[in-house]
Amino acid sequence: MRTTARSRTRLRLAGALAAVLVAAGAATGPAAAAEDPTLADLAQRHGRYFGSATDNPELTDTAYTEILGHEFDQITPGNGMKWYATEPQQGVFDWSAGDEIVELARTNRQKVRGHTLVWHSQLPGWLTGREWTADELRAVLKNHIQAEVRHYRGKVFAWDVVNEAFNEDGTYRETVFYKTLGPGYIADALRWAHQADPRVKLYLNDYNIEGVGPKSDAYYALARQLRAEGVPLHGIGLQAHLALQYGYPDTLRENLGRFARLGLDTALTEVDIRMYLPADETKLATQADWYRRLTEDCLAVRRCAGITLWDYTDRYSWIPAFFEGEGAALPWDEDLVPKPAYHAIREALG
Ligand code: XIL
Repeated sequence: MRTTARSRTRLRLAGALAAVLVAAGAATGPAAAAEDPTLADLAQRHGRYFGSATDNPELTDTAYTEILGHEFDQITPGNGMKWYATEPQQGVFDWSAGDEIVELARTNRQKVRGHTLVWHSQLPGWLTGREWTADELRAVLKNHIQAEVRHYRGKVFAWDVVNEAFNEDGTYRETVFYKTLGPGYIADALRWAHQADPRVKLYLNDYNIEGVGPKSDAYYALARQLRAEGVPLHGIGLQAHLALQYGYPDTLRENLGRFARLGLDTALTEVDIRMYLPADETKLATQADWYRRLTEDCLAVRRCAGITLWDYTDRYSWIPAFFEGEGAALPWDEDLVPKPAYHAIREALG
C-alpha cells in the first residue's frame, strides 16, 4: 500500500481512536462501549422504532434522561397527555406536561406517541363528578379530542385514540362514554381525531390482547367493521403488560399477523414483564427470554411498527405501586444497570 503523509496521519488517528474505544469498552463493559449501536439504531435497521414511556417528574434525573435520550428513538408521555392533565377544568386546557415531553423528543430527535384521548381512567373530576346527557357528553368528547389533536398536530406520529375499551370477555367496558353514547363513540372519536389531523396514525390500545382470545377477537371484529365502514383506524396497540406467572402469549405473532392482514399496523405500546419479588437469576433469565421473544415476534410481522417499554428502568416503573409484591419488570434495574433482558433485546434486534 502506498502511504502519503495524509493517509499516515489518518491511520495514526484511527489507531488512537481505536485505543480510546477499547479503553472505554474495557472500563465500562460492552453495553456502554461508545461504538455500540443503540436499541434505536438496531431497530431502525429493521424499519422499526424502539421507544420508552417517560413521565415529567423523572426529567430532572440527568443519569436517567441521558440513557432515555441516547438509547431510544421514540417516547410516550406516561401521564402528561391524559385528560386529567390536559383539560383540568372544562374547556381550560393545559398542555405544559405534554409539551415538555414533545420538546425533549425534539432535542433528542425522537418520535412521540400520543397517549391517550379517550379512557375511563385518570379523567378530571369535573367530568366524572356529574351526569351528562348524550348530547352534552358528545360535545365534551369532541371538543377534548379535537383541541388536543390540533395542539399536537405534526408533533406526534400516532394517537392512542381510545384506550381499554373492552372487558376480558370481549364485551364493551361500561365506561361513562359507552353508557352515555353507546358503542358508536369509538367510530366518532376516530373520525373527530382524523378531522383534526388527517396525517396522524390512529390506534385503539389495550392490555391482555397480545394473544388470540376473546378480548383480541373483539378488537379484530371491531377493526374489521370499522375498516369496512371507512372509519379512519390505522393500528392496534398491544400494551403488553406481561407477568411471568401468566405465561408468555404464544399466539402473539399469529395475532399481529391477522391485524396486518386487515391492513392495520400494530405496535407493542407499553411493554413490561413483571414478576413476584424478590427477583432472582432464574426469573430474570425467563424475563430476558420473553423480551427476546416479543422482539422477535414484532420483527417477524412487517406491520408491527415498533416497541415501547413502559419506561425503561425499574427506578420509574408503575408496577410496584399497582401490583402488590411485584416489580423488576423493565430491562434496566433501579441503578440504571442493564439486566439480562437488555442484552436479550439487543440480540433479537441484532
Ligand atoms: C400508568 C402510569 O404509568 C402511572 O404513572 C399512572 O399512575 C397510572 O397509569 N395502561 C395505560 C397507561 O394505558 O396509561 C397506564 O399508565 C398503565 C396501564
